[in-house]
Amino acid sequence: MRSQDNSKRPTEIPREAEAKSFDFDSMPWIDEYDHVVESGLDIFSRYDDILEAVSEIACPSPGLIVLDIGAGTGNLTFRCLTRGASVVGLDPSEKMLAKARAKVESAYLESKGCRETRFGSEAHQPTVEFRLSENPFLEIPYPDSTFDAVVGTYAFHHIPHWQQPEGIREMVRVLRPGGVWAIGEVAFKNAAAELEAKRTFPWLDEDEYYPHIDSLRSSFSQFHMILHSKQFTPVAWVLWALKPTVDGGPGW
Ligand SMILES: C[S@@+](CC[C@H](N)C(=O)[O-])C[C@H]1O[C@@H](n2cnc3c(N)ncnc32)[C@H](O)[C@@H]1O
Repeated sequence: MRSQDNSKRPTEIPREAEAKSFDFDSMPWIDEYDHVVESGLDIFSRYDDILEAVSEIACPSPGLIVLDIGAGTGNLTFRCLTRGASVVGLDPSEKMLAKARAKVESAYLESKGCRETRFGSEAHQPTVEFRLSENPFLEIPYPDSTFDAVVGTYAFHHIPHWQQPEGIREMVRVLRPGGVWAIGEVAFKNAAAELEAKRTFPWLDEDEYYPHIDSLRSSFSQFHMILHSKQFTPVAWVLWALKPTVDGGPGW
């Protein structure tokens, strides 16, 4: 964890102490997670469309190497695999990852014996690894420029607002020049838009750090990346940005 400059807030609690933790392993409804997202209610309205859009942006062709952060039960990972990408899924919850592993394993077993497997042709068999990681947005356990794409859905909002720029820096670090960053998230243009939405939608959670698109745009501009956005529901967006190529091109 990098040190924070608290010099301007001497009487306040250090920000690290304020950060809420989202320990899915201790949540009683963890076994219901996939039913909840499949219901498509509230924040998960158009869940499938959003995952599909992220995987389409991140994995337009087979053979790419993708990092899925906050992979959870592996739904986005699974979509990237079926598009022929190899995927590393990071998450701090062992129980969520166990479900992800079981899901991929059963899909593999179902497809065994087929000439064309569900995860690609035999000539190009994508690989998947689910890896427990304590703080996977802020400390990504891979060298610079490892991945063709860095993705995530409904996980970045677990990172406190003041650490989100650091999370972006870390994700851009592991992305290769020309690679793509794409997430599906509950997000708002700015804090005022979030407040307004919370008046309309009481099911929005007070504990989450829903990203503010204006702030993300400013963070990405430091890396000469332009943030693109498409709104799917009143609260959920797909956001993406290309890392410039070494010669300064826009990527992909
Ligand atoms: C709402 S689930 C989303 C899972 C999956 N990406 C999906 O779309 O269904 C949020 C996931 O983020 C993980 N998570 C919690 N805190 C996190 C953090 N600080 N960094 C990354 N992931 C975190 C949880 O363990 C959980 O698996």
